[in-house]
Amino acid sequence: MSGVTSFSNAVFRQKPVPRPTSNQSQQTNGSDEYFSAPDQSQEEQEPNGGIDAGQTQTDAGATECPPLSGARQDFPFRHPAPNFPEERPGWKGYIEWEKYPGKKAYGEEVLAQYKFPGPPEFQLVPIPDTNPILEGVRWKQYHYAMGDTLKDLPDISWKYVQQEKAADMIHVLQFPYNGEPPRSRLVETEITDNKDFFVRNHGGVPEIDASAYFVELDGLVKHPQKLTLAQLQDESLFPRQSNVVSLQCSGTRRIEQIQAYPGDGDELINAPWGEGAIGTARWTGVSLRRVIEYCGGFSEPVDDEGSDMHMEFYGADTYFKKGHVYNYVVSIPWRKCKYDEVLLAWDMNGSPLPKIHGFPLRTVVFGYIGARSCKWLYRIKAIRGPSKAPVQMKEYLYYTPQIGKQNAMYSNGFSIQDMPVSSAIMTPIDKQQIVHDGFITLRGWAYSGGGRWPERVEVSADGGSVWYEVPYERLSKKYYHAWRIWSIDVPVEYEGWLEFCCRTWDNALNTQPTYVRSAWNFDLHVTSSCHRIKIYSINRQRAATRARLRELEEIGVGITPITRPLPFDLETEEHYDREMAARGGRDPTE
Ligand code: MTE
Repeated sequence: MSGVTSFSNAVFRQKPVPRPTSNQSQQTNGSDEYFSAPDQSQEEQEPNGGIDAGQTQTDAGATECPPLSGARQDFPFRHPAPNFPEERPGWKGYIEWEKYPGKKAYGEEVLAQYKFPGPPEFQLVPIPDTNPILEGVRWKQYHYAMGDTLKDLPDISWKYVQQEKAADMIHVLQFPYNGEPPRSRLVETEITDNKDFFVRNHGGVPEIDASAYFVELDGLVKHPQKLTLAQLQDESLFPRQSNVVSLQCSGTRRIEQIQAYPGDGDELINAPWGEGAIGTARWTGVSLRRVIEYCGGFSEPVDDEGSDMHMEFYGADTYFKKGHVYNYVVSIPWRKCKYDEVLLAWDMNGSPLPKIHGFPLRTVVFGYIGARSCKWLYRIKAIRGPSKAPVQMKEYLYYTPQIGKQNAMYSNGFSIQDMPVSSAIMTPIDKQQIVHDGFITLRGWAYSGGGRWPERVEVSADGGSVWYEVPYERLSKKYYHAWRIWSIDVPVEYEGWLEFCCRTWDNALNTQPTYVRSAWNFDLHVTSSCHRIKIYSINRQRAATRARLRELEEIGVGITPITRPLPFDLETEEHYDREMAARGGRDPTE
């Protein structure tokens, strides 16, 4: 696959993994019990430092691997591998990093032994026309490097893609898995089928036994708790709440920004999302507000707005960034919970959460960027101010167009929380050639975050001069926190390449920027500009077109694709002569 062959080869440096120093062990609050470093003396006895045969020696101390196909056998596993045991019985693939700084430091030392390939340069060349579009070789390798607890996760995650997702998903990135459904199916129903719901992962899928599950509540809560799934589901403790809510990844429609101007693209993941990184489900669970009340509220005063207290969510997956290891951690202000807009959800559309969507428990944060809806939730910590974890502090930032590699900092981008109003045309698709009778049917979605809802959807068949309003009866039901799907028959008189676009107005009268360029940003987030597609229009209402279509029909040939030449002469010589005479000849006579 072309996206993979462009990766540079991994180079393994033959340096033994150091044991954590005694200093590091002290930092871990006894975390030595939680992992064990390989025995170095044993390692030294391994022939060739424990490196598999078949690798070429390039220079002293560096061993180059064979070209990567992404296959695990190509990875230069260390023997013996580091050992980071599972944190909890009944949980597989969960290493607790955040509580144990010494273990974290050791994990980073393990990573430092390898030279991993960089991100593929697909933005400056055609995006691979493959499925998976990108493989994520370096992400697989980070997991392999961490030994037994994580090394199978790329395979396990892919197994859940096959078990839980539709067979025709567009696999934007194989690992960590990022995928979206085919365009047309996404807008057939107001509620997205679980198997069609987009997936956005930063790591592997942990496998958690529901009967062994509990979530910890700590930090600035008055009475810290450990709550099992059964307790959360006990209606005598917590009344249930069920809401229709859309989740949208801020990478939705990133491909349009990439194609206009390449950028950093979320630094590491870089997934070239289309219009399908959005979905709508009925989520059932309990309101986080009630769970915090069950903890007796906060141990310290909170201002009236609740804006200085934040809820930090911890996911059991491991996240690698710039040589560091983390759990997936994000936060939201307590203010957001006060109106029951944050669910601890175990049910998605009437079924237990699929494994890939966070089984057994995740947060669902209404109207916010999908990143805050933390999957495989194992801890909620009440803290002052937003989390300093990398996903919260260093990612999902929105920069001005003049900020980029030359001057970007974490502080000069703003943190994406409420999602803006946006929409997309899902059918027809860009560059489609359509034979019609004066009308073309467009279908799509429209969404606005932060409790606002799409009030009016408009489409244009001329690039945005004349707008047609989608009739209200062809917009799906209004919700405070969900999209509306829509369809419209647009009058199309003209033929040839036409630019169609759509835009939405929300109830607060916000609408979308006009062009991709108007809102381009270095991390390629939140492509909320009017969605534009080019359609080649062939209008059967026109006599000449009708005649040409009839000619083609007689010989059983279709008119599309328009790039295929006509198999017959365009006109007879008699007709040509008649026309030329009528037009005053090809050339002037004097
Ligand atoms: N939670 C964890 N633990 N790990 C993740 O990688 N991805 C986040 C969020 N929650 C993520 C996570 C992002 S960026 C998005 S957009 C949503 O999950 C996507 O949810 P879904 O995969 O269930 O559609």
